[in-house]
Amino acid sequence: MTITVQRTSDLTHPRLAIDYILHQAKRGTDAIGFLPTAKYWDLHHRNRLLVVSRDGQLVGFALHGPARDETKIYQAWIEESCRRVEHGRALIERIRTIACAGRSLRIALRCADDLPACAFWDALGFTLVRKEEGGARRGRKINRFELRLPSVKIVKHQDRS
Ligand SMILES: CC(C)(COP(=O)(O)OP(=O)(O)OC[C@H]1O[C@@H](n2cnc3c(N)ncnc32)[C@H](O)[C@@H]1OP(=O)(O)O)[C@@H](O)C(=O)NCCC(=O)NCCS
Repeated sequence: MTITVQRTSDLTHPRLAIDYILHQAKRGTDAIGFLPTAKYWDLHHRNRLLVVSRDGQLVGFALHGPARDETKIYQAWIEESCRRVEHGRALIERIRTIACAGRSLRIALRCADDLPACAFWDALGFTLVRKEEGGARRGRKINRFELRLPSVKIVKHQDRS
């Protein structure tokens, strides 16, 4: 089994990948929330849309924010039949690499308290930093998770002249 994570912007046919993502995102609204189609295209053009495939077949995706002090994960999704075989870990590992390259201090995300995904973030070393009130309609609590990244020290050389 080969697991590959790619930016949609690096694909020869990104439209196929984005159609796939839109289809999966509709199925996963309860867990990952709703975003309009234009937002996916916008993130695609900003190099922030990732897909993961298994032996060449798309099985999931993730959306992330810019690599600033805090890099946000907006959505992460793996198809039901492909869960628990490290695709999710591979996706988040790629976001971690992007965040580290951008000298982010942490990765952050929000995850509804009642989702099994909370155990996923915990297994990946994320810390639950606080619980927030969710929407009034479902009365869900929302967990905010963070992963601290190693900071790079900038050493200033003293001018001894
Ligand atoms: C969360 C999600 C992306 C994880 O993807 P995945 O490919 O199944 O995760 P991995 O196989 O990489 O899991 C890595 C580890 O996380 C933990 N983990 C993952 N899913 C878990 C679950 N449902 N229950 C308990 N632990 C879990 C395990 O420790 C796992 O390692 P193990 O299988 O060797 O025990 C996937 O379950 C998903 O798409 N869920 C629906 C959408 C969702 O909830 N997204 C997140 C919203 S914040």
